[in-house]
Amino acid sequence: MKILVLNGPNLGRLDLRDSTIYGDLDFPALTTFIEKSAADLGFEADVRQSDSETELITWLHEAADAKLPVIFNPAAFTHYSYAIRDAVAMLKAPAIEVHLSNPLAREEFRHTSVISGVVHGTIGGFGPDSYRLALIALKALLG
Ligand code: DQA
Repeated sequence: MKILVLNGPNLGRLDLRDSTIYGDLDFPALTTFIEKSAADLGFEADVRQSDSETELITWLHEAADAKLPVIFNPAAFTHYSYAIRDAVAMLKAPAIEVHLSNPLAREEFRHTSVISGVVHGTIGGFGPDSYRLALIALKALLG
C-alpha cells in the first residue's frame, strides 16, 4: 500500500541543523531509513520534503483525493499554520504527526501543535525511530 511521508521546512537540511537535537542522519539518509522501514511493513513510502507551505498543502490535497495515509512532520509549521491544519483535517485516511525531537521538552513556542488535534496521534522524541514507530502504528490502524 502506498503512503505519503511529508516533511516540512528545514528538514531537507538536517546536515546543517543541531545534531544533538535532530541526530546524525542527513535528509537523504533519513529518506532511505523511512523507505526501508516502510517496505519492511509492506508499505511503499513516497517521502517528500518542502520548505513551502503551499506545496505541502498541495500534497495534502493530493493525499485527500487519493485517500492515502499520511505520516507528517510539519516542522515549524506545526506550531502556527492553520492553513496546514485545515488541509490535514480534510484527509480521508489516517494521518500521524511525527517529530524527530520532543517539542514538549524544548522552547515554549514548540509546546503548541495546531496539527495534533486533527491527526490520529503524534509521535516525537525518538529521532528517525519516530517515523518507524508511526509506520508501525499506521500498520496497526489499517489492520
Ligand atoms: C521538528 C520540531 C519542530 O519544532 C521544528 O521546528 C522542526 C523539526 C522535529 O522533527 O523535531 O523543524 O518538527
